[in-house]
Amino acid sequence: MDVLIVGAGAAGLMCAIAAGRRGRRVLVVDHANKVGKKILMSGGGHCNFTNLGVTPSQYLCSNPHFPKSALARYTPADFIALVEKHGIAYHEKELGQLFCDGSSRQIVQMLLDECAAADVTMETSFSIERIHKTAEGFSLRTARGEVQTEALVVATGGLSIPGMGATGFGYEIARQFGHHVLPTRPGLVPLTLSGSHQAHYKDLAGVTLPDVEAHTARQSFRGGLLFTHRGLSGPSILQISSYWQPGDGLYIDLLPDQNTGGWLLEQRTARPLAALKTVLGDALPKRLAQRLCEQWFDSRPMRQYRSAELRLIGSQINAWPVIASGTEGYRTAEVTLGGVDTDMLCSSTLQSKLVPGLYFIGEVVDVTGWLGGYNFHWAWASGQAAGQVV
Ligand code: FDA
Repeated sequence: MDVLIVGAGAAGLMCAIAAGRRGRRVLVVDHANKVGKKILMSGGGHCNFTNLGVTPSQYLCSNPHFPKSALARYTPADFIALVEKHGIAYHEKELGQLFCDGSSRQIVQMLLDECAAADVTMETSFSIERIHKTAEGFSLRTARGEVQTEALVVATGGLSIPGMGATGFGYEIARQFGHHVLPTRPGLVPLTLSGSHQAHYKDLAGVTLPDVEAHTARQSFRGGLLFTHRGLSGPSILQISSYWQPGDGLYIDLLPDQNTGGWLLEQRTARPLAALKTVLGDALPKRLAQRLCEQWFDSRPMRQYRSAELRLIGSQINAWPVIASGTEGYRTAEVTLGGVDTDMLCSSTLQSKLVPGLYFIGEVVDVTGWLGGYNFHWAWASGQAAGQVV
């Protein structure tokens, strides 16, 4: 075998197509019983397969320059061209996010058809027991016997959703060959609240706000917010979760387009007899307005509030402090932050600088994108980069 790719997910299949098209004899193996399981469940079943606005700044990596090369050489337009070649209908949902009109299955089928056209061999339910380096490449002991390969591509993804086949095998291979693996943690994941904070808000589960701005010291994201039984979710929270670490401050601007203090002063003039919770209930979900009043502000008729009090209430609504206790973990996380350190990988080929012929692509590498199609785009771009040279 010229190239053996471990992991038939987004990155592995993309790499297989590129290498197969170059005439390389490629085998893709996966321990799961079918390929591309995460693609199938992605984007609510419609696969948010790329984003029109991909730039390196939407990726977290301990070396922010690392993703630049692969992303520059495989753009959203390249993947869109592939999607269009296969006649897959798609649409932009918001913020450049492209989704299939139909099912995610179409993306998996497209990748399988491309693999077939490139003469790629694929084996599922395939487990690897041991890997060792040989003079010619690598020898793998597998449940189906010994397999020799010139190049070995690790595309095993991250730890998110273990039930879908996620394992830490790629990290083990990296360590075996002397690579440093950065600590991993769940990303794009709901946050949990604890103690009194959770008790105060848990019965708001299901309440949504269409547009808030979540802030940590270093980053902020606008988008929807959802109260859950254990904490907070929704796009703004998923995005900020990748930047938040336990102990970090987090606050949420519940009315980001509004100077809420100034607005409350106007409301006091316009509706002096209205209760604060009624006024706030016009701008926020009523149940949340009521809870915030019970919790903090003591709802009285507007005319009974001094200006300074209303300004303070307004500033607290524009910067609602959240004490998150943790995250929902890999069980629900979309991605895994950290992973194979990029310091010993070549950014243009994804090849190991320590072991010639060894490659790491996709999510197993310490490159994690924002919500919105960026993670698949990294999988396609890094898979393509390795597939062109492997
Ligand atoms: P991926 O996880 O796709 O593939 C890894 C493969 O390796 C799997 O097939 C696995 O079975 C296999 N494997 C693991 N261990 C193995 C072993 N020991 N031996 C053999 N094989 C092994 N991103 C995005 O851009 N848009 C979206 O809409 C979504 N939606 C989404 C929804 C949900 C619910 C999740 C969990 C994630 C997303 N993502 C996403 C993230 C996206 O799915 C993810 O970043 C990519 O699938 C990563 O591609 P990889 O090929 O690196 O890993």
